[in-house]
Amino acid sequence: MTSFASRIIRWQQRHGRHALPWQSTRDPYRIWLSEVMLQQTQVATVIPYFERFVARFPDLPALAAAHEDDVLALWSGLGYYSRARNLLAAARAIANGHNGIFPAAADVIAQLPGVGRSTAAAIAALAFGQRGAILDGNVKRVLARHGGIAGWPGDRNVEAALWQLAESHLPRNAIEAYTQGMMDLGALACTRSRPACPVCPVSTDCVAFKQHRTAELPAPRPKKVLPEKQVLMLLLLDRGELMLEKRPARGIWGGLWSLPELTPDADVAAHCRDRFGFTTLAQQALPRFSHSFTHFKLHIQPIQLQLAPRQASRPDQIWLTPADALNAALPTPVRQLVAQFGRA
Ligand code: ADE
Repeated sequence: MTSFASRIIRWQQRHGRHALPWQSTRDPYRIWLSEVMLQQTQVATVIPYFERFVARFPDLPALAAAHEDDVLALWSGLGYYSRARNLLAAARAIANGHNGIFPAAADVIAQLPGVGRSTAAAIAALAFGQRGAILDGNVKRVLARHGGIAGWPGDRNVEAALWQLAESHLPRNAIEAYTQGMMDLGALACTRSRPACPVCPVSTDCVAFKQHRTAELPAPRPKKVLPEKQVLMLLLLDRGELMLEKRPARGIWGGLWSLPELTPDADVAAHCRDRFGFTTLAQQALPRFSHSFTHFKLHIQPIQLQLAPRQASRPDQIWLTPADALNAALPTPVRQLVAQFGRA
């Protein structure tokens, strides 16, 4: 039988993806941007964000000179906003510390903010042809099944075993096709549920396939109950405009434009008067909805308030029509709420 890597490379050339917008280039800037966007987000979601981002910031100098607000606005809806802040920090670090030249060595790339070992290896392979192993979520699944590795891949020891396997399979040549092939196999054939084993080039020696254990491998994250939080979100309206507040730079949704939040038992009208100096004319509860983060679940009760015309606003507040607000850097649940509101 030919080697694991040879079969992956051949399969990638025949059946893998070749027309993704970041595949027509060896520009490390575009490849880096795509890999960061793809860290927690699916290809189909990433494509339009990637296109808009490179249209606005076509190269490293353009990004390094950007304002954080503009970068966040282009990221709005993708989630995990620390990725966008790290991207900007990394662009500035390359502009200042690396003479503006994107580093080619994986261990140097891995020092950039927001770039871990796997992302660094993927960039080094796809942009510079450097030989190195990747281990993202898809690749973990492929290797855990093929090697019959038990345990949750997020566990340190399991992850170490998977890195070893990933290193052991590396080809001597064609690292680009191999790297892309591992990602493609995980996304297109070795899927979490109902994997397409009959079309897989490495099923013949796949432990999970031979032992009918593809449904059990890789083992899921051990269940823990997510803490839940309740908040009120205020849609403050004055002459058709909605008030947004800039979140503090640190913490959840850092730097994004969001709606004022209150604890569920608060007196909303009194709060608006005391905190903002606003007079409430009418107040209405909108349907509740929930938003899940990795670490907790947020239950949101939106409250719409019609205000008497305001006197002035503070620098950390903006007033926008719902349509204009959708162009700002909004957290995902705020975006959903404003979009619904705009349609109503
Ligand atoms: N996921 C992470 N990197 C990817 C890439 N380069 N192509 C497709 N999916 C990916």
